[in-house]
Amino acid sequence: MRHDHLITSKQLSRADIETVLDRAAEIDADPSAVADRHANSVLGLLFFEPSTRTKMSFETAMKRLGGSVVDMGSIESSSVKKGETLADTVRVTEGYADALVLRHPKQGSATMASEFVDVPLLNAGDGAGHHPTQTLLDLYTIRENAGLDDLTIGIMGDLKYGRTVHSLAYALTNFDTRQHFISPESLQLPREVVYDLHQEGNGTQVREHDSLEEVLPSLDVLYVTRIQRERFPDENEYQKIAGEYQIDLETLEDARDELTVMHPLPRVDEIAPEIDDTDHAAYFEQAHNGIPVRMALLDLLLENHTRGETDE
Ligand code: NCD
Repeated sequence: MRHDHLITSKQLSRADIETVLDRAAEIDADPSAVADRHANSVLGLLFFEPSTRTKMSFETAMKRLGGSVVDMGSIESSSVKKGETLADTVRVTEGYADALVLRHPKQGSATMASEFVDVPLLNAGDGAGHHPTQTLLDLYTIRENAGLDDLTIGIMGDLKYGRTVHSLAYALTNFDTRQHFISPESLQLPREVVYDLHQEGNGTQVREHDSLEEVLPSLDVLYVTRIQRERFPDENEYQKIAGEYQIDLETLEDARDELTVMHPLPRVDEIAPEIDDTDHAAYFEQAHNGIPVRMALLDLLLENHTRGETDE
């Protein structure tokens, strides 16, 4: 990994992805080996949108590497409330931390913010844009459960506003995959993403569907997503779609026994709880994989950044 900032999964080559996943697997096997590795490092958490998993797993990951975190806290209690710009917030906080994690409701905000800082900046979600660290833990989970090559994956739900979907779809073009996108017409993948996938994909097959039925029996992985209510311009539009594209045990009757069901969480009602206890369910394991994967990523970025500084 030679990157300073991680803004979109488009930056990641197959080699980059394998480096992070291999390091994560090593850490997963023996976390104590890295317990003091970044004892003097501080990670800055800047979350301008709600988060449970991403924020807590970054915090846990940094602490398990021996480091510590500083957290901007809620917008209500920060200077953002007084009108501070994002550029100023990151310029100030880079003085307090060795790396920054940013989540922001505006698409493109992470790219903009990264132009103002020298420490590594990790995009933890920019509006309906990208969420590359989620993608790395998704890939880790797919690799463990189904393997990343010769993979048939269905990605279902809110493909328009779902940033985890955009990031995952781009990253999967590094592998030999057949990607099926299942959604209502109004929540299809943005056209530019479909165009890019066709352009970038080295043999990646991309198909769009409005129903799961026809593709389900061929899938190795089904990645379900939440309808991103907070990004809907019109609440009536949300109400029309909410509740569609849910799965339960009956839906999965035609699935392969080996089908892995994933979800970035939080789920609302997309996956019936009765699926939780089946061998299909990998979404809690997926959330737990956030720890070794984010530990690996932080380790690689901090290591690179420190080495870069001493080399200069
Ligand atoms: C996702 C997000 O924030 O984009 N959550 C997460 O980080 N695991 C998915 C979502 O909110 O639906």
